[in-house]
Amino acid sequence: MGYREVYDAWKADPEAFWMDAAKAIDWIEPPSKALNADKAPFYEWFTDAKVNACWNAVDRHVEGGRGEQAAIIYDSPITGKKRTITYAELQNRVAALAGALAARGVTKGDRIIIYMPMVPEALEAMLACARIGAIHSVVFGGFAANELAVRIDDCAPKCIIAGSCGIEPGRVVKYKPLLDGAINMASSKPEFCVILQREEERADLIEGRDFDWADFVDGATPADPVPVEGNHPAYILYTSGTTGQPKGVVRHTAGHLVALHWTMKNIYNVDPGEVFWAASDVGWVVGHSYICYAPLIAGNTTVVFEGKPVGTPDAGTFWRVIQEHDVKVLFTAPTAFRAIKREDPGGALIRDYDLSGLRALFLAGERADPDTIEWAEDKLRVPVIDHWWQTETGYAIASNPMGIEHLPVKIGSPSMAMPGYDVQILSDEGNPLSAGELGAIAVKLPLPPGTLPTLWNAEERYLKSYLNTFPGYYETGDAGMIDEDGYLYIMARTDDVINVAGHRLSTGAMEEVLAAHPDVAECAVIGATDTLKGQLPVGFLCTNAGTEKPSEQIVRECVSLVREKIGPVAAFKHAVVVDRLPKTRSGKILRGTMVKIADNQDYKMPATIDDPAILDEIKVALKTIGYAG
Ligand code: COA
Ligand code: AMP
Repeated sequence: MGYREVYDAWKADPEAFWMDAAKAIDWIEPPSKALNADKAPFYEWFTDAKVNACWNAVDRHVEGGRGEQAAIIYDSPITGKKRTITYAELQNRVAALAGALAARGVTKGDRIIIYMPMVPEALEAMLACARIGAIHSVVFGGFAANELAVRIDDCAPKCIIAGSCGIEPGRVVKYKPLLDGAINMASSKPEFCVILQREEERADLIEGRDFDWADFVDGATPADPVPVEGNHPAYILYTSGTTGQPKGVVRHTAGHLVALHWTMKNIYNVDPGEVFWAASDVGWVVGHSYICYAPLIAGNTTVVFEGKPVGTPDAGTFWRVIQEHDVKVLFTAPTAFRAIKREDPGGALIRDYDLSGLRALFLAGERADPDTIEWAEDKLRVPVIDHWWQTETGYAIASNPMGIEHLPVKIGSPSMAMPGYDVQILSDEGNPLSAGELGAIAVKLPLPPGTLPTLWNAEERYLKSYLNTFPGYYETGDAGMIDEDGYLYIMARTDDVINVAGHRLSTGAMEEVLAAHPDVAECAVIGATDTLKGQLPVGFLCTNAGTEKPSEQIVRECVSLVREKIGPVAAFKHAVVVDRLPKTRSGKILRGTMVKIADNQDYKMPATIDDPAILDEIKVALKTIGYAG
């Protein structure tokens, strides 16, 4: 069957389609049906099943004869370390950690925050939670203590599992002071912490609260997988919304297992036993789905890469990893390829390695620009597949399904909607638009298995953020169009979310931080185009009347404040002091026009602008920091 037949078969009978996909999962009690619409628009999948995610990702492969196969290859050019963990070893390590957690009282439904660098223990911690039905919430290492504190307060973890440090080029990021700071700030306190002591930085432990991972698991009684209901939350993953309060995306267990397994063959076209590498971070959804769960559920070998595409040690690192570990499919963000292309435009380093095993490159996380796609195609000589998805969905909404059919590529489009997703372009009033017309991208409800059923402790916010604007649809927050052949084009976000080096960030959250600076009366943050990172945040600051501090000092303090409150990952380095912000007569800041000015693009004078002269002032200010042409 080709793509069209598979898509139509799903559309004709979604229930049968997903029940069939569910056969690939080991159930303790199989589901009697796929969709549960009892609480619509809060849909669930496989509610009445009993299952364990860790069993499906680990134990069943050991039983099935893959015990000696590598489950995880750890390759860390930044520390010079490499390690392979077989499925049998992974089973023992995860069962021991799960047993130790259970012995300290962690039970099904308890939350555990995981704050770890890219080491195999991060995956082991996730799987140990899944083994005993604890709900993990992984927090990206590049976030500051304050962001960690917000997440602690939102999900009230019983335990936090952390690394002693992460390693960035040129510096060791000590996690423990960030963790201690976050716990001090948060009103909810974890009962205990488990700290993986890395040799690059050993952390001081707090007696009675903190345990050294090695001692913690020593002698632990291994835990068996605990059966959980199909709708039991497997994890919460916080993602940026329009405000400083991140959204806790919930992932139910059964749908996530079924859907992720389905994607490994049908989208990525990898078979059990093959090596799959997602060069991302466990702190992001790509890391959850395609470094940890999906490759392991499907019996692949996953690569945990601790390094950067360039500088660790050079722009040939990716090619070395592909050759050395026989990677069949690579998945990363376009920004990684832009970084490589900038360092090695002719691809000279590629020729030093044998990449004949590589079958495809998948890109996601941000818009894949045609230059980058064409460069990658030309240099790697494999299909380069742009695919579009979100933290909320957990896997691709639109892709080129390589295991079903390699659709003709249209550069600039992540191809077509995947089975499960009825994607439509809607007008502001919610009416479906015709081919080629630009509008809001929405997905007809119900969303497929594995997508978010709600937000953690925030049902109202779930409805408001995603379902209320277009009744009967999920609002993706992206705008774009579908062409006459059914190819989707993602053009822009419709909200305050920006994408910096494939990292999703909220300009609203940055504005909240800037507004708290004592000399700032009013502010705005926009995402300006950046040739490497896709977008970079730029801040505009209006200072309080009578402020005597020099503007440069205020800018410096604001840059530090965002780094301290949100984290280095925000990459907030550019801001200017301006007298006033351009607004509509009703007081709305004209951020879209400011983006166009920063990018030196033509713009239409907004009809409702309060005072057009302000736009010239903005342009002059932007020029002082290297924007606006
Ligand atoms: N822990 C602590 N700090 C971190 C971090 C982590 N896990 N990840 C990033 N940071 C810091 C970086 O050190 C940097 O700090 P600096 O301002 O002191 O230099 C800052 O956050 C910004 O990091 P990053 O966006 O990674 O930029 P970079 O300039 O270090 O590297 C690229 C640029 C393009 C090489 C890098 O962004 C990259 O590899 N991107 C791939 C994107 C990706 O995998 N996205 C995941 C979604 S699929
Ligand atoms: P995240 O939740 O971090 O995965 O970010 C999701 C957002 O990233 C989407 O809503 C899009 O705005 C953007 N995005 C992800 N993949 C693509 C893609 N292939 N093309 C364009 N934008 C993308």
